[in-house]
Formats: sequence, structure tokens, C-alpha cells
Amino acid sequence: MSVVPALEADVLRRQDPELADVLLGEAARQATELQLVAAENFTSPAVLAALGSPLANKYAEGYPGARHHGGCEIVDVAERLAVERARRLFGVEHANVQPHSGSSAVLAAYAALLRPGDTVLALGLPYGGHLTHGSPANFSGRWFDFVGYGVDAETGLMDHDQVRTLARSHRPKAIVCGSISYPRHIDHAFFREVADEVGAYLIADAAHPIGLVAGGAAPSPVPYADVVCATTHKVLRGPRGGMILCGAELAERVDRAVFPFTQGGAQMHTIAAKAVAFGEAATPAYAAYAHQVVANARVLADRLAAEGLVVTTGGTDTHLITADPAPLGCDGRTARGRLAAAGMVLDCCALPHADARGLRLGTAAVTTQGMGGEEMELIAVLLAKVLRGAVDAAGARAAVRELTGRFPPYPG
Ligand SMILES: Cc1ncc(COP(=O)(O)O)c(C=O)c1O
Repeated sequence: MSVVPALEADVLRRQDPELADVLLGEAARQATELQLVAAENFTSPAVLAALGSPLANKYAEGYPGARHHGGCEIVDVAERLAVERARRLFGVEHANVQPHSGSSAVLAAYAALLRPGDTVLALGLPYGGHLTHGSPANFSGRWFDFVGYGVDAETGLMDHDQVRTLARSHRPKAIVCGSISYPRHIDHAFFREVADEVGAYLIADAAHPIGLVAGGAAPSPVPYADVVCATTHKVLRGPRGGMILCGAELAERVDRAVFPFTQGGAQMHTIAAKAVAFGEAATPAYAAYAHQVVANARVLADRLAAEGLVVTTGGTDTHLITADPAPLGCDGRTARGRLAAAGMVLDCCALPHADARGLRLGTAAVTTQGMGGEEMELIAVLLAKVLRGAVDAAGARAAVRELTGRFPPYPG
């Protein structure tokens, strides 16, 4: 029996029009609004094809060549390809491509290196730490003793003096460097030095910049960190999921921490899609994309600042910008609502210098659509007009539609 008809959208429409409408509606929303959420991107049709493939049917607990299920010979090839491609892409001895998400990768990294009750030093949540970096609402805050470092209130830059002081006084078992909103490169050599001084493991949570690292547009944490955790769905443009990179000496501990300690069966369709994305990320076209993502973010940050927003750290090294819209008359939450009504989709975030929320936006998705510096200028000007009330929601939506219409995420 051919599997091809099952991959065609009209099969879903015939069988379940209600859900087909949901898929169509979301595709239209993504194509006609501006996707400025820093953690999102548009995967390639090839990645989507792998995700929607019969590999979704396969149970495959364990690792290639050592599975707890029969019939894994073919999906083993997919996982071996994903692992090999990740190893080559990031120049690392070992890659585990099974984590279901970035959070699962961090959980497994802690499981590999720590015991409950251990002290961990990480960027505090009010400064851009992730939930898995010690939130009381998350397993990390419940099971470990997190100490938070911060950023300088004026510059927004990580406070290295504080990191060193806290490391010396708390002697953590691990130090985590990584953030959901830090727009600058992280100084991995500094964190390695502090970790060595106090005998701590260094865990780099590179969920955000890993796609830039893949394209040579950001420095790699691999030479410095004992374990690198990452997502595959942000700038990297793969399927939703996670991965862990480490040296050969921690490989077995990391693998056991993923399966069987924190996860069950690997999701083979997602792993196949990760392999496709890693293959794409190894191309010169992807490297050009990654550099363009950063170039676009710089233009966007500069223009937002020129429009009056306070851009944290005064700019960006990455795909990500955080900014305070207060000078334009609204806080981050109000701004996000107004912008959503205008068809500009982004997030709120904490700000280093204020209690009010700010805005977090990124250029990964719009760059995949083919937009460049000129379009970044347009976006910044429109965003500021919306916040100032110089254009109404309908007018802004029309401008967004005109722009997105010229840059469809899935042309043809
Ligand atoms: C630094 C960091 N770590 C972990 C994660 C978690 O990833 P996921 O949402 O896939 O669990 C994120 C997600 O944005 C992140 O930014």
C-alpha cells in the first residue's frame, strides 16, 4: 500500500474537515502575520515531510543497534545519520538527538551530572534564565538548590564579577550559562575558568544561539562546556526538539540520563527531521542565512532604538533583541497586545533596568522568508507607529499583509 496519499493534505480534509481547517488557519496566520517570536522559525518542506512520515509509527526505545523493540533496523539509520551530522556540524565527540525538547535536554544534563539537593549557579529568572534554571514552578527549582546571578542594571550585560563571587562562596556542583533573552554572545571561556576554579561542571544551555553556531555566526560553547544542551527548532530551523552535545567521557552518562532515566521511546520521525535539518545547516546557504539573521537583528535593533525604544545592551550580537517600549507610552504587555492586533507577533520579557515587562523579538523566521535590512527598517517603523498610536490596527495589518505577501514562508 502506498503511504503517499496519507501525506496529502486533502486526505485530512476528506476525513476530518474540522481539523483540516485548523491546519489551514494556522498556515494562513503564519503566512500573513509577522512572526517575530525569537524562538520560532519556518522549517523546510523536507523537515515537514520527515515529521509527517511513517517513522511516526515506530517504537524505538534504546539506541541504534540496542533497541527494546523489533523492526528498528531502518529507523536506526535515521538516528545514526542525525547523530553523525550533529557531531560533524558542531565538531563534537558525542551527540544525543533524542531529547523531546530543550527542557528535556536540560533535565537529562542535570540527571547525568547532579544529585538532588546539589547547588547550581545559573542566570536568575528575572534576568533571562529559563524555567529549567531554577524556577520554583519547575523540577529544577524543586530538586536542586539554585543560586542566581544577574545582569548589570545599567548595561544589561552579564555581571561576571557577581558570577565569580557567587561561585566562590557557594561552590556549586554545576554552573549553567544560557538564557532565553540575552542578546549578546556569552563568554564561554570566562565561565569555563570560573567552573574550573571552583570544581564545577559547566553546562551551556545554548537553546537560542545553537543555530547561529551551526552557521558560524556565533561562537561555539562546545570547546568550553562539559555538556551543551540545545533546541533544534529555533534559528537552527529543525523540528521541535532538543539535543545534547558532550565529550566522549560523558557520553554514556548522558545517554543513560536521556534513556531510560528521563525519557521513554525515541520519536523517530522527529529524529529523522533533525537529521534533515542538520544536513541543511551544513550547507553554505545556511551559513549565509545565519549571518543574515544577525545582520537583520542589528538593523532592527538600531532602528528600534532610533524610534525611541530602549534596546537592552544597546544592540545585539544574535537573532534576539529585547527592548523597553516605555518611552513610546506603554509597557511590554500592552505593547504585545497592540502589536498582536496589528499582526506583529512577539513576546514579553523581563527587563534588567525596570520592573515593567519589555518586548523580546527575533529575526530567524522573517530572515527565512527572505527579508533583509530594508524590511527590518519597515518593521521597526511600523512597530513604533503602532505603539505610538500613529496607525490603527487595520492600517497596520494592511501594511503587514503587503510585506508578508511579498515574502511567503512556503512559496509556490
Ligand atoms: C535557554 C533555554 N533553555 C531551554 C528551553 C526549553 O526549550 P523547550 O521549550 O523546547 O522545552 C528554551 C526555550 O526557549 C530556552 O530558551
